[in-house]
Amino acid sequence: MVAKQIEGYQARATRALDQRLPAAELHPGDLHQAMRYAVLGGGKRIRPTLVYAAGAAVGAIPEVLDGPACAVELIHAYSLIHDDLPAMDNDDLRHGQPSCHKAFGEALAILAGDALQALAFQVLSQDASMVADPVIRLRMMGVLAQAAGSRGMAGGQAIDLAAVGRGDLSLAELENMHIHKTGALIRASVLLGALSQSAIDPVALERLDRYAKCIGLAFQIRDDILDVIGDTATLGKAQGADRALGKPTYPALLGLDGARIHARALYDEALTSLELLGAEAEALRWIASYIVDRAY
Ligand code: IPE
Ligand code: IPE
Ligand code: MG
Ligand code: MG
Ligand code: MG
Repeated sequence: MVAKQIEGYQARATRALDQRLPAAELHPGDLHQAMRYAVLGGGKRIRPTLVYAAGAAVGAIPEVLDGPACAVELIHAYSLIHDDLPAMDNDDLRHGQPSCHKAFGEALAILAGDALQALAFQVLSQDASMVADPVIRLRMMGVLAQAAGSRGMAGGQAIDLAAVGRGDLSLAELENMHIHKTGALIRASVLLGALSQSAIDPVALERLDRYAKCIGLAFQIRDDILDVIGDTATLGKAQGADRALGKPTYPALLGLDGARIHARALYDEALTSLELLGAEAEALRWIASYIVDRAY
């Protein structure tokens, strides 16, 4: 039953994104096509699903969550476009298709990323379906900006690039990199869902944040593991890319089993963090399990 609920969230997010992205025919069409290609061409929609699930855990309805769900996915899609660029990971395949710069050229791919980032904040500021309270909206914008910026995802990506070829990275340094490049947006997804409920109990918010930190790190550990044990067709992106580039990863540092054990411990801690919350947090529990066991 929870799986159905999650599928509903994924489909809902894709519809909401489709509605909020500029039409492919709108001038400049090539830029809008690149944006739509990157967002609608695939993706598991984990982050929007977390927005809806965290909202459900605190009694918020999906109807008011489409805006924040889209905003975080737009930032994520932009981060993947830029992550694949030759200056970064130089990956030609994403979602089983040519990556955005392969399909549209580097310049348009960079601009599509820029425009998706701007659109995310436009949605948070203007979306008609969201909670109207401007204080809540402003808080959401702050949360997302911080998670996307130099102390969040973009900062984590800079740490990642500086760490290439460094086999001597400590576990603490690797954790710090993952927390920023991937954990920050996942944490923001849960916070955005929770913040849409203005009357949220501060203790529940703190527990949800703890949950989010755990699954955010576990998500990137699983991504690192899949780079080793996955296959390109299932992943929709090149398997073995991390090793080819000399990226420090959890399996490289701890071995595959060590990485799995670490992810499992984070999963356990994530579930413990939700103990205070009842059945309405079931979707969050399901997502935590999915994150550490997923095949792509
Ligand atoms: C991939 O994220 C990049 C990382 C942060 C590890 P996802 O695995 O969520 O990407 P999509 O959106 O489902 O393709
Ligand atoms: C990407 O991490 C993190 C962000 C895009 C912010 P990876 O470089 O490991 O992601 P994949 O494996 O290319 O999806
Ligand atoms: Mg990368
Ligand atoms: Mg990459
Ligand atoms: Mg990866």
